[in-house]
Amino acid sequence: MSETSLPFNEKYSPSNAKVSSGEKRKKEWEESLKNPQEYWSEKAKAIDWFKPPSKVLDDSNPPFYKWFPDGELNISYNALDRHVKSNRKNKLAYIWEGEMGEVKTYTYYQLYREVNGLAKALKDFGVKKGDRVAVFLPVIPELPITLLATARIGGVHAVVFSGFSAEALADRVNDCGAKILVTADGSFRRGKPVSIKDNADRGLPNMPNIEKVIVVKRTGQAVQMKEGRDVWYHDALASAGANAYVEPESLKSTDPLFILYTSGTTGKPKGVQHGTGGYLVWAYWTLKWAFNPTDEDIFWCVADIGWITGHTYNVYAPLSMGITAFLFEGTPDYPAQDRWWDIIERHGITILYGTPTAVRMFMKFGEQWVLKHDLSTLRILGTVGEPINPEAWKWYYRVVGKGKLAIIDTWWQTETGGFMISPASGIELTPLKPGSATFPLPSINADIYDEKGQPVQAGTKGVLVIKSPWPGMLQTLWKDSDRFKQTYFGRWPGIYYSGDYSVRDPDGYFWLLGRADEVLKVAGHRIGTVELESALVAHPAVSEAAVMGKEDAVKGEVPVAFVTLRSGFTPSDELRAELIKHIRTTIGPIATPDAIVMVNKLPKTRSGKIMRRLLKAVLVGAPLGDTSTLEDEGSIEDIKATYNDLRKQLTK
Ligand code: PRX
Repeated sequence: MSETSLPFNEKYSPSNAKVSSGEKRKKEWEESLKNPQEYWSEKAKAIDWFKPPSKVLDDSNPPFYKWFPDGELNISYNALDRHVKSNRKNKLAYIWEGEMGEVKTYTYYQLYREVNGLAKALKDFGVKKGDRVAVFLPVIPELPITLLATARIGGVHAVVFSGFSAEALADRVNDCGAKILVTADGSFRRGKPVSIKDNADRGLPNMPNIEKVIVVKRTGQAVQMKEGRDVWYHDALASAGANAYVEPESLKSTDPLFILYTSGTTGKPKGVQHGTGGYLVWAYWTLKWAFNPTDEDIFWCVADIGWITGHTYNVYAPLSMGITAFLFEGTPDYPAQDRWWDIIERHGITILYGTPTAVRMFMKFGEQWVLKHDLSTLRILGTVGEPINPEAWKWYYRVVGKGKLAIIDTWWQTETGGFMISPASGIELTPLKPGSATFPLPSINADIYDEKGQPVQAGTKGVLVIKSPWPGMLQTLWKDSDRFKQTYFGRWPGIYYSGDYSVRDPDGYFWLLGRADEVLKVAGHRIGTVELESALVAHPAVSEAAVMGKEDAVKGEVPVAFVTLRSGFTPSDELRAELIKHIRTTIGPIATPDAIVMVNKLPKTRSGKIMRRLLKAVLVGAPLGDTSTLEDEGSIEDIKATYNDLRKQLTK
């Protein structure tokens, strides 16, 4: 998105919301930064502590900040026990709908019982405090149950998105050294069972640490169960006993809760590590500020729990608040293009937290699919994961929200733990602008810097930075504190570098403009171009690869790969198909390139550096500009011709 085309002057005040100037929001934000100790010691009271913290922040060793350092708590106690002891015991914690339309519900009490059962089983399998439990599950209730059971006994969960390949799974499992893997026989996709256990089985010979594999029966398809290693989830629960109870471990606020791998600018995924106390306080308050859910709400966050959005807003935030969350296993356009709207109508969803890619897809399907349904239960809308273009925002506002509902555009990252920049309907809603995430939440000291680290003027694009710590921030990268320091605090000491471009308008609203680094956002999924390049050059046919993002009307961005081949290989459709298959099996289907362009030479400077700027110009059909530093000026014209031929062929 270009900053020059943004509608800085368009303001919307949804008719069912109380919109005002923002004085209250601003005051609370200022208060939080002026006196963080007082502010957060008050906010921390929303959580049940086994030992309340006497100190808010230990900042003696930046950037390794310790939130509530002497506090002790357990996150599963906060998500379950405290509600079970209250009048929320029989309230629904989850309503789950599977791909095939089946519905399952869990009250807080039922969830508590199953979590205790699994916690006992995990303990019996030898999981102790600090041990890692890897999770490779689709969105089924057993996924949050596994997270809560792990957290209850002080384990550290590492969820791997169930669409990842066997190789990607093994890399992550080995990096975190998990000894237990929880997976499922399969999942349903577009009405058909797809295997997950088979994928895990392909990776398991390369995961020497895994001692036990717990398998949830979801589809009932045939699977191999390795004697002594593999055990059915329902058998493990049965052995634990129907009335199992496991005392929740009293954990330090700074004990790690989970590791979640995400892409960065090198080939190796980063194991983002979140702690317990700061993360929970942040999860709780960010949900409260942004959406302000109540006991009457049914909150549907559409994200897969394999990503951070699902961790924070399908598990820890809604459960710690004691509200009802809705989970959906499946595809948004199966069995028909109104699946979401049908779900909202049937379940009476009140909060829909969706994504720009989904909105753009529904726009393409046409508004008649939305209008077929009574969506009057909805009271607020949300979006996350990538910049929402103003047209998509307006469609969402008009067609889904009927001009009545606020759109809460939340900017944040795996690393930030929870929302960072977002309208704050739970404090005070200010007028919305289509495509702006509006203002930083309390404690978020956001600014926009130029290349030299100087704050930019309103209207000038720069990189978004955060200038002081906040409770939900990552603790470190798993076993790689140097990379943590270098990646996030290396550019300007003490300043968190987000990797995103942003601009502030003259009213102070923040607009997020996409990544400033070698990371793509493909349908909201975060994919490193270097990861794709490494996967491509690992194929025997490929000599060199350069991957970049190309704008896409629905997915926001898609990867396009330019490759040169090793001698003995010639470009062909078969080889192209094989390389695509190779990416799907080494990373996963989400990383599938939109096109693989086989060229004789990549454009390089005389010193051998690939001129990515020129490849980008080819992709967008822009003038090439100065090519005088090119080692071989003819190469780029060849590339342009090859790319344009391929495009024609692909769009035929
Ligand atoms: O580029 C930003 C984009 O998603 C990145 C973070 O990706 P991930 O760690 O996978 O977490 C996604 C869910 C929080 C950011 O660096 N992003 C996320 N939300 C927005 C966004 N870009 C613009 N607007 C948003 N609301």
